[in-house]
Amino acid sequence: MERPRKFYITTFGCQMNEHDSEVMAGMLLEKGFTAVRERKEADVAIINTCSIRENADKRFFGTLGQLKRRKMENPDFLVCVCGCMMQQQHVIDTIKAKYPWVDIIFGTHNIHQLPQLLENALSEKKKQIEIWPGSSDIVEGLPCKRLHQSKALVNIMFGCNNFCTYCIVPYTRGRERSRKPEEILREVKSLVTDGVKEVMLLGQNVNSYRGEGGVDFAGLIYMLNRVEGLERIRFMTSHPKDLSDRLIQAFIDCEKLCKNIHLPVQSGSSRILKAMNRHYDREQYLTLVDKLRQAVPGITMSTDIIVGFPGETEEDFQETLDLVRRVRYDSAFTFLYSIRKGTPAEKFEEQIPEEIKHQRFNRLVDLVNSISAEKNAEYKDTVQKVLVEGPSKTGSRTFAGRTDGFKLVNFRGAASMTG
Ligand code: SAH
Ligand code: SF4
Ligand code: F3S
Repeated sequence: MERPRKFYITTFGCQMNEHDSEVMAGMLLEKGFTAVRERKEADVAIINTCSIRENADKRFFGTLGQLKRRKMENPDFLVCVCGCMMQQQHVIDTIKAKYPWVDIIFGTHNIHQLPQLLENALSEKKKQIEIWPGSSDIVEGLPCKRLHQSKALVNIMFGCNNFCTYCIVPYTRGRERSRKPEEILREVKSLVTDGVKEVMLLGQNVNSYRGEGGVDFAGLIYMLNRVEGLERIRFMTSHPKDLSDRLIQAFIDCEKLCKNIHLPVQSGSSRILKAMNRHYDREQYLTLVDKLRQAVPGITMSTDIIVGFPGETEEDFQETLDLVRRVRYDSAFTFLYSIRKGTPAEKFEEQIPEEIKHQRFNRLVDLVNSISAEKNAEYKDTVQKVLVEGPSKTGSRTFAGRTDGFKLVNFRGAASMTG
């Protein structure tokens, strides 16, 4: 028997990665490993990587660099890397060439193999590399160690078929696969038994969910809305091109479905949207927003916007600003376009100079923030129901929770209010 190993997982990227890390933690705890609160206490360091923008790549290599000394001091210290970066050959080549102290490398399609790879590394004392290029299967029934007591992330589908020209995800997560509705239902019911009140349904484009028996995304919502004890249902992310009238109806019919939607627009210019391969134009997007607002009064909205996509002119950017002014998002995630190796946009001419990108980015952020502040001010002196998540990031006696509309609320509270 090897002595028990203490692990720490560093997670970069989106909720999918966050959830993958929860599953990895679940598997390791089941195998008798223990979780520690800081990486410096660990003898197994796992880094779950993201490749969405260059910054994410850089932070990963920075973290790897920091681990070199630990490894030199203690050869038994294990360094495991996984996640979206590992699905790219150039990353694997770089790790092999420049970071030879990495012990275990695996990809997004085979995280279920982590316990086995660890065992192998410990017994064989040699590097383990296992990366599946893709997968048509879904491994069900893996354990999961949730980060939060009362809310849970639930995958409903994996992968992406959309190939937006800037995006790496279809290459790192493979083609779309939907879980069976009954598997999702079973998981949600068991989460509720375990004290969960809110589920966040995850997929790169939940609107293209197709479960066995022809259950579509709206159908899934209706099904989960009937789960007794469950109080809130959210989802992330819905692609505007596939948002159905049935889903809009579900907002009306299903009282558990939170009145909030993240609807990434990416750009306000139809010309740029076409170059991005988003399959909707500015008018269609604005029409969809109107339809949602008419059907679901008070619905809150957030979005993702990329600034400085190849070929973006000042006029295109003005259209983005104008769209933001029209929609008036509650919040928006704004990104500087980042070239991703192997994507079509990597080869597009007219890449935008960094300083112009930054200058546009700052103008957009100013607008987005001032609208957010105005939107939030509308809640002044109102009473809102929040699901208390626990201590806030702002101070010792402050607690945090989210409203139905996903607004973060900090307040004076006590630990006993959690959940
Ligand atoms: N599937 C989701 C997006 C997941 S990625 C959707 O289509 O809505 C999250 C966000 O990262 C995207 O919405 C996009 O705004 C941003 N993003 C993706 N690739 C990017 C790139 N190469 N440069 C900058 N931002 C990018
Ligand atoms: Fe990326 Fe587009 Fe797929 Fe979203 S829909 S993950 S942006 S390719
Ligand atoms: Fe990043 Fe992969 Fe998510 S690239 S954003 S971790 S799907």
